[in-house]
Amino acid sequence: MKLNIALLAGDGIGPEVIDQAVKVCDAVAKKFNHQIIWKPALTGATAIDAVGDPYPDETHEICANADAVLFGAIGHPRFDNDPSAKVRPEQGLLKMRQKLGLFANVRPTFTFPSLIDKSPLKRERIEGTDLIILRELTGGVYFGERGRRDNGNTAFDTMIYTRSEIQRLAKKGFEMAMGRSKKLCCVDKANVLESSRLWRETVQAMEKDYPEVTVSYEFVDAVAMRLVQWPKAYDVIITENLFGDILTDEASVISGSMGLMPSSSVGSKVSLYEPIHGSYPQAAGKDIANPLATVLSAAMLFEDFNLHEEAKAIRDIVNRSLVEGIVTEDLADGGKSYKTSEVGDWLAKHI
Ligand code: IPM
Ligand code: MG
Repeated sequence: MKLNIALLAGDGIGPEVIDQAVKVCDAVAKKFNHQIIWKPALTGATAIDAVGDPYPDETHEICANADAVLFGAIGHPRFDNDPSAKVRPEQGLLKMRQKLGLFANVRPTFTFPSLIDKSPLKRERIEGTDLIILRELTGGVYFGERGRRDNGNTAFDTMIYTRSEIQRLAKKGFEMAMGRSKKLCCVDKANVLESSRLWRETVQAMEKDYPEVTVSYEFVDAVAMRLVQWPKAYDVIITENLFGDILTDEASVISGSMGLMPSSSVGSKVSLYEPIHGSYPQAAGKDIANPLATVLSAAMLFEDFNLHEEAKAIRDIVNRSLVEGIVTEDLADGGKSYKTSEVGDWLAKHI
């Protein structure tokens, strides 16, 4: 297969972890006889510095014409500490999600047998966890009307959803549940929010189309607690944008490190693959960041092109690296650790 992949390294540790994923993908391509053509493009603070826009039109062109997008991270502390900044790197990410129509963010949570004891949660609670949070990505409070009034002394953000936005996300959730254990949990705050009541009403109306799927409805605050208390209660979770943002960070604790959790964002033609961790600026340029979340995101990419063996080869080699202790310092427990680039080299070599 020939794949054109837009490569958006972004900011912070983005370029370092992306480099490792490229090495691994190239090794997979060689082994399985595929051709990958990488199309690098600017995004985030790096793009603001270069051209004044965190998601330039040129980058959008490259993404829109690619078969897939592999994305590192965006964000820079100099913007975080300046609430008055007019252009922010994160706007690039939101613009990209919207312009590419990436309305569903797929964030799997699973455990690695060799790392169970790295999680702050007890082994018996998390062992065997295998859930997916399907987060709505182009609506809700991220994209609703926001502003200030009363001379800047009052601020507002609007959580807004249309029935069709909920339906298209929920449809993916139901379909995903059909391919798994046929359990779907809709997470909302319908005891308070009108938009959540529309979510619940919409999903309830869709139940009849998927009679085999058992649907539960839970409030987000309760799920925040149960997710770490008994994650095995969940299989596929569907939820709106902000709730999903928060719950997926929380869920990463189950696996023991945020440096391990991949994601895909899907919707229209082109899908995007990215680690769920951010730009981790404190580690930028130090060659210490964990590249596995990005490498595993690349596995999700292959999976979506029905290249199952290729995806499995990546997951297997990642598992082997964990078992053999070829890990970055976040997983080394003060023992021997490897540089980001060394882990990438090892993975590529052993593919
Ligand atoms: C994520 C991130 C982004 C989000 C930020 C960087 C805008 O936290 O992908 O989860 O909130 O969606
Ligand atoms: Mg987040």
